Amino acid sequence: MSERDSDAVGDLLVRHGYMPAASEADAGIIIVNTCSVRGKAEDKAVGKLGVLTDEKKTFPDRIVGAAGCMVQRMKQDIFRVVPGLDFAVGTHSLSRLPSVIALVVGGQRPVLDVSENDEELDELCGHLDVGVSAFVNILLGCERGCSYCVVPLVRGREHSRSADAVLAEVRNVVEKGGREVTLLGQSVMSYGRTNPVWQDEYVSPMGFTEPLARLLEAVNAIEGVKRIRFTSGHPSGVTSELVRAMAELPAVCEHLHLPLQSGADRILKIMRRGYTPDGYRNAVEMLRSGKSGMALTTDVIVGYPSEKEDEFEMTRRFMEEIGFDNSFIFKYSPRPGTSAFQLKDDVPADEKMRRNKVLLELQDKMGLAINSRTIGEDVEVLVEGTSLRNKLMWAGRTRTNKIVIFRPDEKIKIGDVVNIRINRVMAQTLYGDLI
Ligand code: 5AD
Ligand code: SF4
Repeated sequence: MSERDSDAVGDLLVRHGYMPAASEADAGIIIVNTCSVRGKAEDKAVGKLGVLTDEKKTFPDRIVGAAGCMVQRMKQDIFRVVPGLDFAVGTHSLSRLPSVIALVVGGQRPVLDVSENDEELDELCGHLDVGVSAFVNILLGCERGCSYCVVPLVRGREHSRSADAVLAEVRNVVEKGGREVTLLGQSVMSYGRTNPVWQDEYVSPMGFTEPLARLLEAVNAIEGVKRIRFTSGHPSGVTSELVRAMAELPAVCEHLHLPLQSGADRILKIMRRGYTPDGYRNAVEMLRSGKSGMALTTDVIVGYPSEKEDEFEMTRRFMEEIGFDNSFIFKYSPRPGTSAFQLKDDVPADEKMRRNKVLLELQDKMGLAINSRTIGEDVEVLVEGTSLRNKLMWAGRTRTNKIVIFRPDEKIKIGDVVNIRINRVMAQTLYGDLI
C-alpha cells in the first residue's frame, strides 16, 4: 500500500511540474514514505531520514520530508526524532504535498500536515511508473481493530472507493501498459460493506450480489487485463460467491494472501482476529474446492504476549497442515496506541528469534516441496523484465505469484504471457525454459 502511495505521490508531483530525479544525489526534494506496522520499519525510516538530513551539509538546497504512517502516528514528535526535517505529511494529507512543498520553498519550515479530512482522493489515482503490474486501491483504512495493529490508528476509518472510480483507474493503467492489477485494501474483502460502491441500477451479468465479486467481474471484463489479484484477505470474507467469482473469472489468479497470524485458538481470540483455526481451515477448504491450483500465502506473528510454547507448536502444526506456498513471519513488535501495547511483551527476544527461525525453516521446506511438483510442467508466466540477480536472465511471475527465471529470447518482450517448462526449483523461485 505504501508502494502504491509513493507512486501516486510521484504522479501528483510530476503533474505539478516536478521531475523525477535520476538518482538520490541529484534530487532537490527527497520524501521518505514511512511504515509504522513494526518498530523495525520505523527505525529504518528514522535512520534513512537522519542520513538524508545530515547530508544537507553537502547538499544545502536539498529539501527532506517524511510522509505516511509514521508521521500520522508521531505527529509533531517526528521533528524531535528527526531534527532537520523540512516537512512531514500524514496518511490523509498526501494530496496536499504540492502546497506543503511550496510553503517550505517559500521559507517556512518545518511544515506539518496531519489533518484527517478534506483529502482530495481524486488527486491520488494517477500512476507514474506503470510497469507490467499495477496496484489499485479499492478500500482505504481499516476497522477490524486487531489488538496488535497500528493500521487503524494511522490509516483511519474504512472507506470503499466507488466501483466507477476503480474501473476508470484500471482502464487508465491498462492504457499505460499494465497487464496485471492488484486491488488493494488492508482487509480487502470488506470492499463495499462500509459504504455503497455500485449504482442502484447496476446488474451483475453473472448475478453477483456482493461488491467484491461484482468488482472482480467488472475488472475481468476490461480488455487488456490479463491478471487480477486482490490483497489482503480475511477468512470471514471468503464467501461462496467470492469463491465462485474466483473460479469462473479467467483473469483472477490462483493465489490468495490470507494472513493467519496464529494457529492457536486462544491467541487468535486475544488478537481479536475474528476467526478460529477451524474457521480459517473452512475458508481454505472453500477456496481450494473452487478454483483448482490455488496457491496460498500468509502472515504469522510469533511471540505475541503470553504465547506459550504449546501455542506456538499449534501454529507450526497448523501451517504444516495447510501447506502454504509462502509466508511472512514477524516477531511481535509492541506498537504504541494499540490495545496489545498494554500487555507485557513477555516472550524473550531470543525465544521470538527461535520461533521465527523454526517457521522460516518450515516454510522453506514446504515451499520447496510444493514447487517441486511443478518440475517438468509448463507454467504461464507474465514477463516482467531482467532478473534482479542476474542481468543475463529474465524474470516473470506465474499466476500463483511465483517468480520464474528463464533465458530471454528476442521474440518476447515485457508484458508478454509465455509458457515456461520448469526444470529446477527453490523454495521461492522456479527456473525453466521458454517453450
Ligand atoms: N508486530 C508484528 N507483526 C505485525 N504485523 C502487524 N502488526 C504487527 C506487530 N505489531 C504483521 C501482521 C500483518 C502484517 C502486515 O504485519 O502479520 O499481517
Ligand atoms: Fe491491522 Fe487487522 Fe486491519 Fe490487517 S485487518 S490492517 S492486521 S487491524
